[in-house]
Amino acid sequence: MAEDISIAILGYGTVGSGIVSVLESNRDSIAIKAGKGINVKYVFDIRNFPGDPIEKKLTHEFETILDDPEIKIVAEVMGGIEPAYTFTSKLLAAGKSVITSNKELVACHGAKLIKLAKENNCNYTFEASVGGGIPIIRPLNTSFSAEKIESISGILNGTTNYILTKMADEGKTFEEALSEAQEMGYAERNPEADIKGFDTVRKITILASLALSKSVNSDDIYTEGIEAITPADMAYIKTLGSSLKLIGSYKATPKGVYAMVSPKIIPAGHPLSMVKDAYNAVFVQGNMVGNTMFYGSGAGKLPTASACVADIIDAARHPDINVRIDWDEEKVELLPIKDIPMRALIRVECDDIAEGRKVAQSLFQGCRVLALCELTGEFAIITGLETEGLIQEKCKILYEIPFIRGVANIIRMEE
Ligand code: HSE
Repeated sequence: MAEDISIAILGYGTVGSGIVSVLESNRDSIAIKAGKGINVKYVFDIRNFPGDPIEKKLTHEFETILDDPEIKIVAEVMGGIEPAYTFTSKLLAAGKSVITSNKELVACHGAKLIKLAKENNCNYTFEASVGGGIPIIRPLNTSFSAEKIESISGILNGTTNYILTKMADEGKTFEEALSEAQEMGYAERNPEADIKGFDTVRKITILASLALSKSVNSDDIYTEGIEAITPADMAYIKTLGSSLKLIGSYKATPKGVYAMVSPKIIPAGHPLSMVKDAYNAVFVQGNMVGNTMFYGSGAGKLPTASACVADIIDAARHPDINVRIDWDEEKVELLPIKDIPMRALIRVECDDIAEGRKVAQSLFQGCRVLALCELTGEFAIITGLETEGLIQEKCKILYEIPFIRGVANIIRMEE
C-alpha cells in the first residue's frame, strides 16, 4: 500500500473529535478505501486539551498547516463564518482540499469556495453540512444529475425534531425536551439557531442551490421556527392523526421557485410523518425518478464525523483532480412569500363559536371546521389551497369581527 496521507483538522469540538474516533475505529477499512492510511498530523484549536491523545498534534498556529506541503487535505469543522472562511480560502488557494460540516459557511459562500477549489485543482466538499450522516449532497450532485428536481421537503434539524417528538408522544415540555437534546449533543452551541429555524434555513439553502445549480440566498427564504407551538396546537394535530415537523422546503412551480422554513402538519401516511426523535429525512421529487427519501441520523458526533471522513477518503482518491460540483454564483430569484400556495390550520379565538364558524366558513370557502371539546372559547379550520398572501389578508378580516378575539396560530400543512 502507498505511503500514509497526513491530514489536519481545524476545530476539536464534537465533530473534530468524532473524526479522530472514526479514523481510529475503522482505520483498516478506511485505508483500503482511500488507497492509503490516513493520519491526523495536526489539530488546530485555540483551546488546550491536556491529557487528550491529540495533545501532541495540537497547534494554535493556522500557518503551520497552511505552510506544510505534506498536508493536502484539511477538515474544517470549526463552524461559523470567520475565521473559517479566511482559512478555507487560503487552503484552497494553496491547492489543499477542504472538507467541512460547516453549513453556515457553505450556505453563505458555497459557490465561491467551489469555484476556488476548481481553479486550484482541489476539492471543497460538504456532505456533513446537511443531514449529518445521511448521504444527500452526493446524490443531488451525481446520482440525480439526470433529473429536474421538482421539490425537496426536509426534516433537517435533529434538535427540533427531537423536541416536537417528545412534546407530541410523551407530553414533555419544550424546555425538558430541549435540555435532553442538548445533553445528547444534537443542539447548536446557541440552540436559538435550531429553535428559530436558522440551522434549517442554511441546510435548505444548500439543497436548493444544488437542485438549481445556482445560488439561493438564505436571507431571501421565509423562516419560522417552532417557538410559537403550544400544547393546544399539538392537541388539534393529534385529533387529525397527523404530526408536526419543522420543514425546510424547496419547490419549482410554473410561476417560479420558492423555498421556506416553517413548522408543517404532516398527514399520517406521508413518509416524513414516520421520522421521529433526532432523525432527519429528505424527501426529494424528481421529474423522472418520482419520489425518493433519504433517512438517517441528522446530528450527533459519529454520524456527522462519518460523513466528514467519507469526504476525506474521496479527497484522497482524487489528488490534484477537481471533482465537479454544479453550484454557480448566479443568484436565484425566489417567489415572494405572499404568492406561495398553502393550506393551513387556523385556530380562531372566539366568544360566539356558532357565529364565528359561520364567518370563517364564508371567508374561507370550502374550509373544514374542527372543534376540540377540551379547548373552550376557540375553534379551528383547515383552509383549502390558497396563497399565503390571501390567507393572511383573510385572517386580518377575522380580527375586525367583534366577537372574534383573534387568531391563536396559523400552521401550514404539507401536501
Ligand atoms: N444542531 C443541528 C441539529 C446539528 O440539531 O440538527 C446538526 O446540524
